[in-house]
Amino acid sequence: MIQRLKGKAAIITGGAQGIGGATARRLAAEGAQVLIVDTDAELALANVKCITDAGGSAAHMTGDVSKEETAEGMVSEAMSRFGRLDILVQNAFGLSSDTFGGGAVEMQLQTWREVMDLLTGALFLGAKYGVPAMEASGPSEEFDAEVLAEHGLHRGDPPPAGVGRIINMSSVHGLLQAAGILAYEAGKSAAIGMTRQMAIDYGPKGITVNAIAPGHILTEKIQKMWEEEGNEEGYRLFEIQYPVRRLGRLADIASAVAFLSTDEASFITGVCLPVDGGLSIQLQENIVMEMKDYIQQNPGIKSHFDSWGEGSQRK
Ligand SMILES: NC(=O)c1ccc[n+]([C@@H]2O[C@H](COP(=O)([O-])OP(=O)(O)OC[C@H]3O[C@@H](n4cnc5c(N)ncnc54)[C@H](O)[C@@H]3O)[C@@H](O)[C@H]2O)c1
Repeated sequence: MIQRLKGKAAIITGGAQGIGGATARRLAAEGAQVLIVDTDAELALANVKCITDAGGSAAHMTGDVSKEETAEGMVSEAMSRFGRLDILVQNAFGLSSDTFGGGAVEMQLQTWREVMDLLTGALFLGAKYGVPAMEASGPSEEFDAEVLAEHGLHRGDPPPAGVGRIINMSSVHGLLQAAGILAYEAGKSAAIGMTRQMAIDYGPKGITVNAIAPGHILTEKIQKMWEEEGNEEGYRLFEIQYPVRRLGRLADIASAVAFLSTDEASFITGVCLPVDGGLSIQLQENIVMEMKDYIQQNPGIKSHFDSWGEGSQRK
């Protein structure tokens, strides 16, 4: 694999498994040293072993990234272990029925606070400690500031480009809203707004801040949920909703994060990149009509979404 991230150091929150796990493996395969921060120590260690067995460089730290001491601790751990910080992937999320908590009427205030602490508070805390560390690290290698100057592409002082990359994991749920899961939808929408705001604040320091909005990604957990709760007809219904006629793979997201982490992406900031096979560009009223025949022909459709957002399903 091309070593586009050689010499860079990265933190990946929720990097023990799923999207974060695959992202940690991908960034390491491209040459970055990675620190996995996760509440699940056992799986984090297993992913570290997977990376080091493949010749990469990785370590892990156990902690809840919605807590300030974890955010501060992970940045100082990366700085003392790797001597620098270049990439911060803010991805952690705990999938459970509690984290979905219902709509406004069903939602408990405590659940709301916990979910928002993780989906938004952790992004703020990661940046609070990560940005100064990226600034202190400076560019990992000669960036193309001189090339820009040679071509007369800037008139003032060379921009401090290539200093850092923050990538916040949003979702198609940040772009479009679903019934019965207020906190998740609010948190993933806020991640996009926070990304834009931080991109403005930290662009002048040479730090880009972008978000990714994955569609339905077949993580280890989601594969298992499909096996236990879904059926073939339900799976196919999901697939045919995607213009590319398939669900997402871990590698689809990991490769997008890797690209946004490179110097090649230095002029991209404040965007939310949907990596969703076109799911979010479709007009709903048309797609519902397209699905109508399939649903009528397959009345036994089951998906693992059936029990999510219960209590506020549309009738
Ligand atoms: N899988 C999808 O289809 C999908 C789609 C869109 C967006 N996303 C987003 O991508 C991210 C990863 O999702 P996933 O499906 O890979 O999840 P996952 O459950 O497979 O992995 C999440 C990891 O985060 C860790 N984690 C949970 N809470 C934590 C905390 N407070 N502090 C530190 N670590 C914590 C978990 O232990 C786990 O290892 C999430 O932000 C999720 O909302 C996922």
